[in-house]
Amino acid sequence: MNHDSSMVNSYRPGSAALTVRQQDLIDRRERVLGSAYRLFYERPIEIVSGQDVWLFGPDGERYLDAYNNVVSVGHCHPRVVQEIARQSAVLSTHTRYLSELVLDYAERLVATMPAALSQVMFTCTGSEANDLALRIARKHTSATGIIITENAYHGVTDAVSQISPSLGPGVNLGSHVRTVPVPDPSMGADAGAVFAKSVAEAIADLQRHGYQPAALIVDTIFSSDGVMPYVGPMLTAAVDLVRSAGGIFIADEVQAGFARTGDTFWGFQRHNLVPDIVTMGKPMGNGYPVAGVVVQSEVVARFGNESRYFNTFGGNSVAMAAAGSVLDVIENQGLQQNAQAVGIAFAEALRQVQSGDSRIDAIRQAGLFIGVDLVHPGNDRNADRIFASHIVNRMRDNGVLISATGRHGNVLKIRPPLTFSLDHVSVFIHALLASLATAQ
Ligand SMILES: Cc1ncc(COP(=O)(O)O)c(C=O)c1O
Repeated sequence: MNHDSSMVNSYRPGSAALTVRQQDLIDRRERVLGSAYRLFYERPIEIVSGQDVWLFGPDGERYLDAYNNVVSVGHCHPRVVQEIARQSAVLSTHTRYLSELVLDYAERLVATMPAALSQVMFTCTGSEANDLALRIARKHTSATGIIITENAYHGVTDAVSQISPSLGPGVNLGSHVRTVPVPDPSMGADAGAVFAKSVAEAIADLQRHGYQPAALIVDTIFSSDGVMPYVGPMLTAAVDLVRSAGGIFIADEVQAGFARTGDTFWGFQRHNLVPDIVTMGKPMGNGYPVAGVVVQSEVVARFGNESRYFNTFGGNSVAMAAAGSVLDVIENQGLQQNAQAVGIAFAEALRQVQSGDSRIDAIRQAGLFIGVDLVHPGNDRNADRIFASHIVNRMRDNGVLISATGRHGNVLKIRPPLTFSLDHVSVFIHALLASLATAQ
């Protein structure tokens, strides 16, 4: 079986000694799940339960979860669990009947956005949301060209795998797709101009090959590109160029959305612009599969007139109850404010570690989304993927779960549930210092 993949932090057989049980579970997975799945960590972990920011193994081992943004209000949050159970006992059906449930949630969701983003279509996964967004974009623009970032990830359907270069060289990008590099946020105001220049070149190249641009789509925190939270209007000039060439702007909020970035509820709001389409998923149901597309009414008009849309499970009654309870918890527990305050303190604590360790380069943070560059010490400060992998695995050994990301795989990706507290930050820093000490 081919275990090599472009995925950073994927398990490779033989890289560490496993218990009999771990090996048995891995063998069973390979037999029955086949060759496409990947596990995290040199020594994969078995999880049997979760509670808030903690995950538990079969023998009571406890891991601090500093990585999962799906359960963004905490593992098994009692209110979400209760709402899913309650609604399951009342009704679970689809969007072809009149029901207030889906309308109540849709109205609540669009109320979190600028007024122009006024209509919602529900899916079950982020991939489906992006797939639908591409179809809407093509109908609206009568064009097919798509511009994405260099190491983007937008999902797994046939159409969106073609705009997901982070899946690696084994997955072809479409001939209608062009990639642009994500500039370094430390460039400040220049980052926007640099990005716009790359987008202009991509538009010109698409046109030279007979494609008009349908859309620029970005993950608004550029997570697979290395976690790039910009301050200021980094995307504005590029979005203007795409729009004047007839295309639209799609904000993929699967990673950044639902209060994660602290200062705003949606990642695109940090860029101070209004997308034509916003796609979302992961944290929307705190683990219940619910995702969707929010779109400007005139952008979806032609699609709506010419195609019918129905998604059997998208927007089902239980999904709406789960998603509604997630909004309740974010509001009631002040989780956006918590992400903002704890995120700042977390970055500050990381900077203190950085001041004593020259292998830590830039630390980029927005709310509870943090990227930490690990580099070879010395003048060149080149990306150190092997060291990043080492730290991710030692953190795991020390009971804290994170991963790595970015084109060079050297960026520690720290993205805990939004209930993370200062005490959890202390546990994290303690484990990080111990992990760094294992490789001097
Ligand atoms: C930015 C982004 N878009 C889309 C997706 C796809 O979402 P899903 O796995 O729910 O299909 C992901 C998943 O990791 C993602 O990170």
